[in-house]
Amino acid sequence: SVSSAFDFAPNLFPLSSTAQGYTALGTPSNPNLDPSSALNGAGLEKNKTLTYLNGLSLVVGLIIGSGIFSSPSQVNKNAGSPGASLLVWLVAGILAWTGAASYAELGGSIPLNGGAQVYLSKIFGEWAGFLFTWCAVCVLKPGSAAIIAIIFGEYLVRAIIGADAAEASAWLNKAVALIALVLVTFLNCISTKLGTRSADVFMFLKFVALIGVTVIGIVVAVTGFSYKGHASEDWKKQGWFEGTTTDISSWAVALYAGLWAFDGWDNVNYVTAEFKHPTRDLPRVIHTSLPLVILFYLLANVSYFLVLPASIIESSNTVAVAFGSQVFGPIGSLILALFVSGSCFGALNATTFTSGRLVYAAGQEGYLPSLFATIGLGKSHRAIRLHTLNTTPSKSRIKRFVITAFADPDAGFFFTPISAMSLNAVLTSIYVLIGSFSTLVTFYGVAGYSFYFLTVLGLIILRVKEPTLERPYKTWITTPIIFCCVSLFLLSRAVFAEPVQTLLVVGFMAVGLVVWFAWVGRRRGEEKRRFRGEEGVGDDKVGWRFWRRWRW
Ligand code: ARG
Repeated sequence: SVSSAFDFAPNLFPLSSTAQGYTALGTPSNPNLDPSSALNGAGLEKNKTLTYLNGLSLVVGLIIGSGIFSSPSQVNKNAGSPGASLLVWLVAGILAWTGAASYAELGGSIPLNGGAQVYLSKIFGEWAGFLFTWCAVCVLKPGSAAIIAIIFGEYLVRAIIGADAAEASAWLNKAVALIALVLVTFLNCISTKLGTRSADVFMFLKFVALIGVTVIGIVVAVTGFSYKGHASEDWKKQGWFEGTTTDISSWAVALYAGLWAFDGWDNVNYVTAEFKHPTRDLPRVIHTSLPLVILFYLLANVSYFLVLPASIIESSNTVAVAFGSQVFGPIGSLILALFVSGSCFGALNATTFTSGRLVYAAGQEGYLPSLFATIGLGKSHRAIRLHTLNTTPSKSRIKRFVITAFADPDAGFFFTPISAMSLNAVLTSIYVLIGSFSTLVTFYGVAGYSFYFLTVLGLIILRVKEPTLERPYKTWITTPIIFCCVSLFLLSRAVFAEPVQTLLVVGFMAVGLVVWFAWVGRRRGEEKRRFRGEEGVGDDKVGWRFWRRWRW
């Protein structure tokens, strides 16, 4: 209503990290003044409503995405044989599983929103948390968006112009990817609701596609029905482990591709706060959702192998299109291409939404220039809003509509972190232009697993340093140890397997460290001293405000 718009008016534009309406601890002194409420929906953590099944579908939905429809080529090419590929998928899944269990323990013992950033800050110092945020803004978020956009482009182009013609033009794929990116960013800039509402619409597509592939594969294997004849004979003759690679680096590259498909397990913690019975349900969710995804992925891969010859699986990132055309001909490939591209579009939309909030929150925290912590269209937009607010009593319906549309933070057009989402879109476009699925997956994996490794290592350190800390959920100590060993192997091979991507990641981190020690960290130190003097806030609280407000 208009009157609530007036209530909100004093804090329409939270421009700095010390936005009005916040206590030093970061809890909004007045919920109406919480700027994040306009972005995220206020007080979500107070609704403890999630049940076991909700959690299960959330986690499975977070993890399943483009990967199972795009990674198989990369996995197979590098692993060398179907048996080895399945092994890679299994190892990737178990790594994700141990990672998720470790993160759950951290989430229980450090019960704040924000995931890795918070844990790293708490365990290693704020520089580590900053470095994670820095890499999330520069590499992880735009990198994953670029991968999803590229897969979207490849699938949609195949849907539109046919499976065979599309091989020729990588640039056409990229152009489509960029158009989707711009479209999705624009939608998310117009309105928060547009962005979040459309998310669910695409959710079911990937389930249908994945289950479809699995069921069809089994049916084909049993009945022998297939439009283009049976291909599985290849494997029967050759043996499942024929051609397995002996090069350790190839195993690592294959694993990175598999891990992409399992990525998202780190988001398990973002749902913790909303469980009715977190200590009981969170472990249950993890120990069912991850085995379930592993099973899904193994079955889907077996289906691919039963239907398609190796040369085809390896030749493109759009294995589902080849699968559809093998079994049902052109109609099959069209349908699968549409489903997968739809699912990717949904994923791109979701990641645009969350990246915008991440960049925005980083700006508010002083981790990025405050330009990125602005809402709406800047000064002129503000002028429009204030003008409409000042002229509220109006008999004109149109005018009233405009006023409510612009003044109500929930319905307000362009009342979104536009500059933050633009930054993300620009970085993503760069990756789309210079990268490809295979290069980006390794790039993303190296950066991502550096932080997963550090965070889980932090868990082990925390067990030693603070053995009495309350841990509502405690994994076996072997879990984080296995995770650390395997990810250390992965990271140590990266430089041999993909030197360029690895050096790029190292470069980004080095720049991040310089930024911290030369600039952000220093300012941080001053702020802390001020906070301590004025508000009596302890060191370890500073910086966490950022993550409390930002939700996945
Ligand atoms: N596993 C997803 C896929 O296969 C990727 C998830 C992207 N990562 C993330 N943290 N949202 O598409």
